[in-house]
Amino acid sequence: MSIQGDALRQDPRVAEAKKLLQDAVAEHAAAITSVRPAQSEHTGDYDAVLKAFADVRGAPLFYPYVSSGLGNGALIELMDGSVKYDFISGIGVHGWGHSHPDLVASGVDAAISDTVMQGNLQQIPEAQEVQSLLIQLANANGANLDRCFLTSSGAMANENAFKIAYQSRFPASRVLAFKKCFAGRTLAMAQVTDKAANRDGLPTTIAVDYVPFFDAKDPQGSTERAVKVLQMHINRYPKQHASMVMELIQGEGGYYSGSTDFFKALIQVLKDNNILVHIDEIQTFGRSDHAFAFQHFGLDADVDMVSVGKMSQVCATLYKPDLQPRAGLISQTFTSSTSAIFAAKSILTTMTEPGLFGTDGRAAKMSQYFRDGLAKLAEQEPDLVAGPFGFGAMVVFTPFKGEKDKAVQFSKDLYNAGVLSFIAGTNPTRIRFLIPIAAVTEADIDGALAIIRDTLRSTVKA
Ligand SMILES: Cc1ncc(COP(=O)(O)O)c(C=O)c1O
Repeated sequence: MSIQGDALRQDPRVAEAKKLLQDAVAEHAAAITSVRPAQSEHTGDYDAVLKAFADVRGAPLFYPYVSSGLGNGALIELMDGSVKYDFISGIGVHGWGHSHPDLVASGVDAAISDTVMQGNLQQIPEAQEVQSLLIQLANANGANLDRCFLTSSGAMANENAFKIAYQSRFPASRVLAFKKCFAGRTLAMAQVTDKAANRDGLPTTIAVDYVPFFDAKDPQGSTERAVKVLQMHINRYPKQHASMVMELIQGEGGYYSGSTDFFKALIQVLKDNNILVHIDEIQTFGRSDHAFAFQHFGLDADVDMVSVGKMSQVCATLYKPDLQPRAGLISQTFTSSTSAIFAAKSILTTMTEPGLFGTDGRAAKMSQYFRDGLAKLAEQEPDLVAGPFGFGAMVVFTPFKGEKDKAVQFSKDLYNAGVLSFIAGTNPTRIRFLIPIAAVTEADIDGALAIIRDTLRSTVKA
């Protein structure tokens, strides 16, 4: 007897429906061609939705962004009729931009699946394919990350990595992290995140010791200092550290990148002391010339655990087989939504194909084009812009000498003018961009750069 699920998937009506929907989306998306202001006939409804958001949240949205549900690559249409360049992608999630045909098709696959969510007691083959794709991408240059556990948020991917580390290194009860790191917002991850406001009023949950990050202005000195501090923590608490979590490019901290020598020097000390190396790739995944930033830095042989999220759509913890946790340690009701799993399969498959990564890949080319434009702007307006800085498709510049209030004002002015960005770091506060690598075009970048330039000039006059 045939499997009816297979028959449904192969039903020509499904293929036809996909095509019809892709065509309908593309046709309407094609009308979204450039930035435009809000349309007065829609602003009343829009204001009401924003007020309702503010009322139930107890605070307004950072940006008054409510999507109409349709975009065109890097352009997004909002419910008030305005169109903006999305150069922050939900802080790194929408690498394929808006209304991408592949994701319309994967959405149809999800829509005809029997359930909306997938989880601990039920699986679909695509969940396993997503795991295999992540492992294939992670092990491309010889890493040994053969195990993968899916989850629904970056914070949970980190939580699972921390649990695996503690159980493997029991009774070690401390962890190491970089100063200014960000690890998520659960009770434990808020403790790891090196930002006082994020744990204001919370009890201490886990013991964390901090190591200073790399300073590109003083590579050797900062490496020596970091190794010294790491050694000091280990000497103070011998055999008590289970793992060190590392962002190779600090995200929320301001887009500062480390170097291979810096990481290797710390990793040597960690390995000598049987402390696990946990790379947090939740923001960096898909943003260098490789799928994983640890591959760019040549740390394949060193990494024990990796957490991934954002652009992967489904979050995950990858780890070496000898770290396999005992039954009961890791589970949750929702692995992810069915639509996220199908979208992840589509995105990760494209990532395994030629074209996106590599020094000649689309991600590198678009990032360089954007960087070149920002560099020109910094040359023209040295009092307004320093940079660009950052790494790969994590692009950042410092406006107005990094004064926080002015940077926040600028990001909001830029939003109003039609480009979405976000702030990063303090002292200096910078303006960061996570461009949709698979969707953005040179024309989009030219358009966004012109708006950035005009907004810088008008913010300073205001
Ligand atoms: C480096 C890093 N780790 C963890 C997280 C937490 O991910 P999520 O917000 O999906 O829980 C983030 C999110 O910004 C991140 O940038």
